[in-house]
Amino acid sequence: MAFYSEEIIEEVRSANDIVDVVSNYVQLKRNGSNYFGLCPFHREKTPSFSVASEKQIFHCFGCGKGGNVIKFVMGVENISFVEAIQMLAERAKIDLPSNDTRDLYLSQDELLQKEQSKKNMYEINKLAGRFFYENIKKSKVAQEYIIKRSIEPATVRKFGLGFALDDNGLTKLLTSKGFPEADMLATGLIGKSDFGKLYDKFKNRFMFPIFDIRGKVVAFGGRSLESAEVLKAQRIPKYINSPENAIYTKGRHLYALNLARKSNEKMKKILVVEGYMDVVSPHQAGITNVVASLGTALTEHQGRLLRQYADEIILSYDSDDAGQTAIERGLEVLRSLGVSAKVLQMTGAKDPDEYVLKYGPERFKKLMDDSISYAEYKISRLKKMYNLSDTTEKIKFLTKMAEILSKIDNNIERDIYVDKFSVELGVGKEAILAEIEKKTLRSTIGNKQTNNISQNFLSKNIVTNNPSRANEDLIIYLLSKKNENVFKELKENIDISEIEDSVKKNIIIKLYDLYETGNINNRAVDSVCQSDEEFNVLTEILMNENMNGDTEKVLSEVIKSFQVESLKNKRNTLMKKLSSVSTNEERESIAIELYEINNKLGQLMIR
Ligand code: CTP
Ligand code: MN
Repeated sequence: MAFYSEEIIEEVRSANDIVDVVSNYVQLKRNGSNYFGLCPFHREKTPSFSVASEKQIFHCFGCGKGGNVIKFVMGVENISFVEAIQMLAERAKIDLPSNDTRDLYLSQDELLQKEQSKKNMYEINKLAGRFFYENIKKSKVAQEYIIKRSIEPATVRKFGLGFALDDNGLTKLLTSKGFPEADMLATGLIGKSDFGKLYDKFKNRFMFPIFDIRGKVVAFGGRSLESAEVLKAQRIPKYINSPENAIYTKGRHLYALNLARKSNEKMKKILVVEGYMDVVSPHQAGITNVVASLGTALTEHQGRLLRQYADEIILSYDSDDAGQTAIERGLEVLRSLGVSAKVLQMTGAKDPDEYVLKYGPERFKKLMDDSISYAEYKISRLKKMYNLSDTTEKIKFLTKMAEILSKIDNNIERDIYVDKFSVELGVGKEAILAEIEKKTLRSTIGNKQTNNISQNFLSKNIVTNNPSRANEDLIIYLLSKKNENVFKELKENIDISEIEDSVKKNIIIKLYDLYETGNINNRAVDSVCQSDEEFNVLTEILMNENMNGDTEKVLSEVIKSFQVESLKNKRNTLMKKLSSVSTNEERESIAIELYEINNKLGQLMIR
């Protein structure tokens, strides 16, 4: 909590509709103003996970987990509160104040300085992008290269492509604008010699600006125009890229995601490729749902980013070993994030750029459609490792294959593969199924346990005859109405110290506080929750459909019922005491108290 103010948290929260966010992870079905789906926090076959769009909360009646959109993202992504805020802010395009952990130790002045420095870096990159773009007009080699790679002028403009000449032009431009030297150096566009002279670091390179999701330039990739032979002989790197700095982290950005995310509302598929040109060529040919991970395997951060915009991710990397390793890792990352992932298989060209230029967009689209699943890809790789005409090897292969298939949650999908491989390998379906069964046994046992837990939870919480528990729930429900008069009535008539459940008592005290400090209308009801337990308890109450009654009526009933319970409790205590006292005086005074209690009870009952 130390990082962001309540106001910022509230802003981020309210900018992210919980139904939208949850829909990225869970298939929801609408029922009135609530939505239902399979809980992402425990395994289940029938939906007990619900999202209330009006209240902006979720609650699972199976496992008991509940919370708001921030809590949901924390749980489903397994990330911290601060990370969840950052992710949701990014999603809603909210600029967060600097949030570096190191910033904790910075003074106010230093913080401002750091913010200013970032602003300068964005500005420098923006100017540099324009500068490189304008350079194309001055450079014959650049113009020739553009033609050689079949890039159209509109594409050059769309991607902001450019050229870095060898004349220290950028250094001159930026110096003339008076940017601080440190900020120029930090972008990695400018270097400093041993003699203290500044110079352009990208020279004679074709420039690809890398945009963040909001369309700000955060980095550049520069391709040498030398031939492959010269590059190799002189050991010149084909590409050089901006270094990581305050505004750019390699594994957190994806090339062209700013464009791809707008492209395919219906398709909801995104293709991830390796290189800049593997993005540019498909986009130019009208296939705009393509991004590049820029020479690395897909990171978890990139996976999360993608998941916000696509239901299915297709990977297409070079067929060399490095590329295949990158695919394996990427698939694992996406699987762990619960994203459906496929692999594009390509023959006849070395990368998507070449393929699109050679065979055209239609055939490339077909390749995308024909992409194979994670399981198929793994099995096809596995197949290459065994000699299937040898029986021992074949058995080993089958065992490994069963392991892969056992991890597929979708039974229909699994059956399709079983059918397919049973024919392909000439092995009976039953044999494969039996092998899968063995592998799944362990996870099935796990399942039974969670089922029992949820069963207990249900019986404990839904079938309750305890009136005081019902009262506590109703008090919280009433307080959630944000009605000052209801609050006043409750406060006057209910003694909080008598509330038994400590979690509920805590929630009620904090809700009282929201009313008393005049904040009830500026905050979400669940803002009073801190612990998981508080969230779980509160959301369960707020989700309870049975409580939707006439507020006035519920209020008077709750007050009456609470007072009755409270008097009955006092009576019980006194009765017990009565049997243990020894003097007549004591007995008498207790009897008087009892008489008064019974009187009050009688009056309450009649009312
Ligand atoms: N890359 C890099 N640094 C290098 C080589 C490659 O950053 N020295 C990254 C670039 O993002 C590049 C991607 O890895 O686009 C794929 O590299 P490669 O296949 O070698 O290049 P292509 O993208 O095919 O480039 P081109 O088509 O221009 O030859
Ligand atoms: Mn290429």
